[in-house]
Amino acid sequence: MKARETWKNRSVFIMAAVGSAIGLGNMWRFPYVAAQNGGGAFLIPYFTALITAGIPIMIIEYGLGRRSQASANVALGAIKKPLRFVGWLSIMAAFGINIYYCIVLAWVINFFIPVFDITSWAVDITSSKIHFFTDILHLSDGPWDFQKIYLPLLIGLFLAWLAIWAIIKSGLGKIGKILLFTVPVPVVLVLILLVRGLTLEGATVGLNYYLSPEWSKLANPQVWLAAYGQIFFSLSVGFGTMIAYSSFMPKNTELPNSAAITSFGNCAFSFLAGFAVFSVLGYFAFITNVPIEQVAQAGPSLAFIVYPAALAQLPLWIKFFAFLFFLTLLLLGIDSAFSLLETVSTALSDKFNFSRTKATTIVALTSFLLGIPLSTGAGLYWLDIIDHFIMNYLITITAIMECIAIGWVMGTKKFTAEINKNAEIRIGFIFSFLVKFLTPLILITTIIISFIREIEKPYEGYPFSAIMVLGVGTLIFLIICALLLSVFKNDYEEEQENGIRLSNGGN
Ligand code: ALA
Repeated sequence: MKARETWKNRSVFIMAAVGSAIGLGNMWRFPYVAAQNGGGAFLIPYFTALITAGIPIMIIEYGLGRRSQASANVALGAIKKPLRFVGWLSIMAAFGINIYYCIVLAWVINFFIPVFDITSWAVDITSSKIHFFTDILHLSDGPWDFQKIYLPLLIGLFLAWLAIWAIIKSGLGKIGKILLFTVPVPVVLVLILLVRGLTLEGATVGLNYYLSPEWSKLANPQVWLAAYGQIFFSLSVGFGTMIAYSSFMPKNTELPNSAAITSFGNCAFSFLAGFAVFSVLGYFAFITNVPIEQVAQAGPSLAFIVYPAALAQLPLWIKFFAFLFFLTLLLLGIDSAFSLLETVSTALSDKFNFSRTKATTIVALTSFLLGIPLSTGAGLYWLDIIDHFIMNYLITITAIMECIAIGWVMGTKKFTAEINKNAEIRIGFIFSFLVKFLTPLILITTIIISFIREIEKPYEGYPFSAIMVLGVGTLIFLIICALLLSVFKNDYEEEQENGIRLSNGGN
């Protein structure tokens, strides 16, 4: 068996995990998901989801990675062979997510030239909308109206994949060095945007909207599912990434506190990024006299339409702050995107014994090709539907299955004993209770109720055919791929699973 590469030390591992967690999810997805789901009210299910599912599952994934020193398929397969499927399912989710994640990076890349002309295309929301929907996305009339492949988007997509391919191919040593730049720099940039936002007139209008809870929303299970989905997306759990990253940690690395640092660090950053976004939106609502509810309801386009329009109203240094904003998005997204690529390519290496370069190239090329439809006029619709289904259903299902694998198949007693080795914070009863009962129960209930509602009222009013083909179809496609990969016999994968079983005395 090949010797596994390792991170230089615990700090590099935590930085890699934080880099994966903190991403577009914090600055692009979190504000609009929060706005769609009751503004301030959303923070309650969000933090509940962090405590009841985010942190416990992060601990599970760190534990699985450390004990197996292998990717999710092998780590779970070593507990019981059929669980290999759960591992592959989570890896396929990472594969699916990265396909649309990189198109968002392509949008960001496409903003770098027009950003210097922002005052002409972002005079108000209408012109900013035209700029994003028409000039950047060439948005068509619906998910089946492709128009054509738009070259600038395709080039952006290609550049995004080229960058993350080059980074992942270069190995852990180089990745560690790149993280020294891509993790702290966007945090500092967000702090600059935050200070600018908070010192603007009318910022409180936005912050009131952001922070005041709309209690009635809490009765809607879809809001809860969205909160769990956002936590999983944001923490990079449920899709094998943290298993892959922690498989490179030295065997004696501390786990529970590292998981807490990563999770709280990530969510504090989201919370902070929310301030940076909503303060500027408040300023915009204030000076243009548009109600904040209207300003904030923009879905995935919030960061690309409303925020630039708001930045264009700044009294000073408009281009500088606009450039800073898109640079922040790019830097935030890049280390999450390469962690998703690493998740899939490590799994391929662990199954087929491929070299890092070969596995990374196969995954990057396939994903780039599959992402091409997203560079057509229908791309945004595709992204929105696929994201909704992967995040709210697939990831939630893999999270439930991971809880069952640890809670009921391996047993929390054995697992907590392993986790508590070298632990700075010991886990015990609460962790076991969450993983065995509460978290799966909440997730199963919300997923069932939401699914029923989904059938009654298709997501965002999309045509039924699009929901079935792009949403349900993507899930079926990813499930079939996971199934094939898990049953496709491979001695190398099996050899590793057996090795882990032996060295851990049983499963
Ligand atoms: N965790 C990554 C993000 O939030 C995927 O963007």
